Amino acid sequence: MEDDEIEEQNEEEIQEKGTVSDFEYKDIKDLPGVGSTIASKIRNAGYQDIIALATANPMALVEACGIGEPTARKIVAEAREASKMNFMSGLEFEDKRKTVQRISTGSEALNILLGGGVETQSITECYGEYGSGKSQLAFQLAVNVQLPLEKGGLDGHAVWIDTEGTFRPARVEQIAAVKGLDPKQALQNIKIGRAYSSDHQVLLVDKIPELVNADPKIRLIVIDSMMALFRAEYVGRGTLADRQQKVNVVLHTLQRLADRFNIAVYITNQVMARPDVMFGDPTAAVGGHIIGHVATYRIYLRKGRKGSRVAKLVDSPSLPEGEASFEITSSGILDLDEEKKK
Ligand code: GTP
Ligand code: MG
Repeated sequence: MEDDEIEEQNEEEIQEKGTVSDFEYKDIKDLPGVGSTIASKIRNAGYQDIIALATANPMALVEACGIGEPTARKIVAEAREASKMNFMSGLEFEDKRKTVQRISTGSEALNILLGGGVETQSITECYGEYGSGKSQLAFQLAVNVQLPLEKGGLDGHAVWIDTEGTFRPARVEQIAAVKGLDPKQALQNIKIGRAYSSDHQVLLVDKIPELVNADPKIRLIVIDSMMALFRAEYVGRGTLADRQQKVNVVLHTLQRLADRFNIAVYITNQVMARPDVMFGDPTAAVGGHIIGHVATYRIYLRKGRKGSRVAKLVDSPSLPEGEASFEITSSGILDLDEEKKK
């Protein structure tokens, strides 16, 4: 492709990106002046990310990518701009923390465990066995986020990425009706993307900034489940690093969205109980605790006595570890009634 053609194509791509103007660049291809064609040439030349590109010699890019010198200089300048470290003072940081809001889970005990509910500007990972209630909690949050502030909501909307085909409109309607919302409107306020492969999941997550720009009321992102497709596709250890890298990209996109737009991110992760583990955590996640280091809050869910559910807060940066019991009922997530607490 000729240089001119590339420039032309770039202009189109830049225009298109205008819709996600406020979102920070995360990938070489997102930089102004760089489209996917140039991005892959840059990568092939050994510059894998924006930081690497920021320290590149423009002349090396001219050679390796067959682009003009002005273009190369512009790209490196943009990469430097984009990779500036954004320090903020402790005071600014504190101010930002003050804007954190919480979505009620439906159970007061669980809210208390989480410091008030599921937090914005954070990723909350809920892991547990099949049927432990991970999706049920997601349904509840997708409804509760729509409630007014005084009722534990954010007067907001939700985005839901469904990787297992387990989104149930009827369940949303049921819970919404209990909460006094118009069930159809509640469904209308949730944007659902069904992912059929891990690549598709990555694409859908990449689309979220656009959705948020179109609808600033979006305050909750659900990924149910985060790992199912990655697990299914990446079997065998040989590809684990590759998988991990993709998962990390998704998680960092989610974290940036959470920070930037004051959104709560709730992701689920199915783990299998390992009967061979007698002590410690019996659910050492198959494939390792892949997302543990990025998620700010990690909730381990398990079935408790008399059909109850027990949530355990694991590795929280600011809250004490502890447990809370609740119940999944036809009306949604509720505190245990007095009888069952005994
Ligand atoms: P996987 O997706 O398989 O990993 O499980 P999960 O953790 O997402 O489980 P999910 O949230 O789907 O929980 C399913 C459980 O919730 C069921 O086994 C029921 O115990 C309970 N449940 C779901 N719907 C209802 C309902 O309408 N009424 C009551 N009482 N319980 C329900
Ligand atoms: Mg589920």
